Amino acid sequence: MRIIRAKDYEDMSKKAAEIIASVVTLKPDCILGLATGSSPIGLYKNLIEKCKNGELDFSQVKTANLDEYVGLGPDDDQSYRYFMNNNLFNHININIENTNVPNGLEKDADKEVARYEKLVQDLGEMDLQLLGLGLDGHIGFNEPAPVFPKVTQCVELDPSTIEANKRFFASADDVPRTAYTMGIGTIMRAKKVLLIVNGKAKAEILAKVINGPVDPMVPASILQFHNDVTVVADEEALSAL
Ligand code: F6R
Repeated sequence: MRIIRAKDYEDMSKKAAEIIASVVTLKPDCILGLATGSSPIGLYKNLIEKCKNGELDFSQVKTANLDEYVGLGPDDDQSYRYFMNNNLFNHININIENTNVPNGLEKDADKEVARYEKLVQDLGEMDLQLLGLGLDGHIGFNEPAPVFPKVTQCVELDPSTIEANKRFFASADDVPRTAYTMGIGTIMRAKKVLLIVNGKAKAEILAKVINGPVDPMVPASILQFHNDVTVVADEEALSAL
């Protein structure tokens, strides 16, 4: 793993945006795996700026997001499709038809996970997969479990994830209990992985991810087995290493 030390959130966002920008510049028709949450908001702002000032062209880029809450549609301001449209896609010159997020409104979980896994496979090898890190070590919504989940699936969210994500909802009761997520196997097939982490609260889990044993109870620890992972983390997040 390559570890890039950033001063703070702003610096992490800038450095991570440079990495994504280099992929898009080298391969204008690249395939990007994207994430939501608070970690990538600053990074997306940097990409928007680069697109607006003519440095970056997303017209041929295709994307697939990691996950979506079951039950939330694109018009729900807590859905990940809404997040992506508002924090990135609506502000860059990407063809919205080339952007993909699991369909939270599909009630037939077997149908949706099969559709999304096939869609991601058909897109081809991801050139870069962006990841944030959950407080419990999750990536996507792959929560601590006895085994690493291979493919896209419908998962029950961990109580600690519901607690962490309630800040975006009126109350913890409003956080959906299930989500569709790419599997760890799906994520591990990406050519490059970019993990962004900030803040003191994630210091201990990040130390486990980087230095601990590879253990499905710390899902992101599997990244130790990927041969092109870059971690961009701020000083607080790196403080337990
Ligand atoms: C979001 C996702 C999650 C988040 C993680 C960290 O698409 O897949 O794994 O990356 O929960 O969330 P934040 O960035 O809000 O701390």
